Amino acid sequence: MTGRTPMIVARDLRKRYKLGKENFVDALRGASLEIGEGEMVAIMGPSGSGKSTVMHVIGCLDKPDSGEVWMGGRRVDALRGEALNQFRGREVGFIFQGFNLVTTLNALENVALAAEYAGVSRGEAARRAAARLEMVGLGDRMRHLPSELSGGQQQRVAIARALVNDPGVVLGDEPTGDLDTVTSDEVVRMMREINESTGTTFVLVTHNPEVGDACDRVIRVRDGVVVDEGRGAA
Ligand SMILES: Nc1ncnc2c1ncn2[C@@H]1O[C@H](COP(=O)(O)OP(=O)(O)O)[C@@H](O)[C@H]1O
Ligand SMILES: [Mg+2]
Repeated sequence: MTGRTPMIVARDLRKRYKLGKENFVDALRGASLEIGEGEMVAIMGPSGSGKSTVMHVIGCLDKPDSGEVWMGGRRVDALRGEALNQFRGREVGFIFQGFNLVTTLNALENVALAAEYAGVSRGEAARRAAARLEMVGLGDRMRHLPSELSGGQQQRVAIARALVNDPGVVLGDEPTGDLDTVTSDEVVRMMREINESTGTTFVLVTHNPEVGDACDRVIRVRDGVVVDEGRGAA
């Protein structure tokens, strides 16, 4: 064990996707994991092994059929309504492969919007957004539209957006999947620096072994279960 306070605990998660009347896929078949506060962890495994599903369930974007998700000592898998919205808006930040920025909004507006959704006033949202964009090295690109930014810069805007409400946890689904090797390294190094300077817990689903190398630990998923939590023999 890491000796750190568990930030995320997932216990025996099961999730079946039904495909029509008779067919189904068991995406999660009893997946369990534990991630310490302030850790940066990669989730790796073959395509279709359940990595995205487990990340979505941890972030409450999706509900498991059974099992439990605890975050910061609170059970979150059963949250609904306003409590669920608040959790997703403030306590976790998400980063996706395709950046998912609003194409008609500039970098500052994209980041500020996530704060406004969380109930922050317009002025305060803009102030926080500017600070987060400085943090990811885009202080001189705040008024640029996504189309005026490189892939790596767009993903840094998405990282700033994920951090704007100071979540305890940032979840990334293949966050470097659309980036070339050099840019991928830069983006991962930036996440690592933020992880170390702010203590934010990072969980990154990835195919890229170099992303795994940059993390504290690699959790390996296969056929809907965690086969290795990457804690070594200790
Ligand atoms: N919305 C869905 N409907 C039906 N099947 C799905 C859905 N999402 C994922 N699956 C299936 O569940 C399994 C796990 O998917 P996923 O978690 O996306 O895997 P990974 O991210 O490791 O590639 C796969 O067999 C996939 O086809
Ligand atoms: Mg996936």
